[in-house]
Amino acid sequence: MNTVLTRKRLVIGNWKMHGTLAANATLLDGIKADAASVQDCEVAVCVPFPYLGQVQASLEGSSVSWGAQDVSTHEQGAYTGEVSAAMLADFGSRWVLVGHSERRSLHAESDQLVAEKAIAALAAGLTPVVCIGETYEQQQSGQTSSVIERQLAPVLALGADLVTRMVLAYEPVWAIGTGLSASPEQAQDVHAFIRARLQGLGVPQVRVLYGGSVKAVNAASLFAMPDIDGALVGGASLQAQEFLRIAAA
Ligand code: PGA
Repeated sequence: MNTVLTRKRLVIGNWKMHGTLAANATLLDGIKADAASVQDCEVAVCVPFPYLGQVQASLEGSSVSWGAQDVSTHEQGAYTGEVSAAMLADFGSRWVLVGHSERRSLHAESDQLVAEKAIAALAAGLTPVVCIGETYEQQQSGQTSSVIERQLAPVLALGADLVTRMVLAYEPVWAIGTGLSASPEQAQDVHAFIRARLQGLGVPQVRVLYGGSVKAVNAASLFAMPDIDGALVGGASLQAQEFLRIAAA
């Protein structure tokens, strides 16, 4: 089976903690206006919780889907400040990022917790986008594979039936927001490593996105790599034209 053909390209914008009602309206209008011209690539945005209603109202019926950037492991209850997967689904979310490096480093999210968030998302019918990636120090000391292996372990342990419903995103921490993207070859090396793990589980068709300073100028060369199935885009997703140029690449 040719797994490449079965992996539809996917480009997700991660707005992080940016936006206002007014700025979002302009951005969403821009994305909607041109999204239909993007062929053979799914386009989505993951937005701050308070804007899910706005994004739903704006994107409903368009080809662009949406989601959030984090989710609680709990279904409901006394968890002040948490947002459940069912709440995200209530607002039409299709996706949720879990384990973004900013959550791992700023909120001490463990590999195990990230796997639990993925389970919570799946239980509510959302697709978790599980983010993994090594720091600069880890990369410099040759630990990339072992870090990826460790981060993936509790996720892969969930088994093929659950993992097949996920998306993975390889985001080297040193490339996030730095303007210093991994080279296509560097990224492909890690993606091939991840693909081999997925293959080992019998789910090679799971999509693996690359993230970290993806822009319109470097998107095409990254997407030309056999195991890179799309991108998770931070900064460049805040400009409609730039974001859609990435999706069109
Ligand atoms: P960046 O962020 O594109 O701004 O590097 C990517 C991400 O953090 O998902």
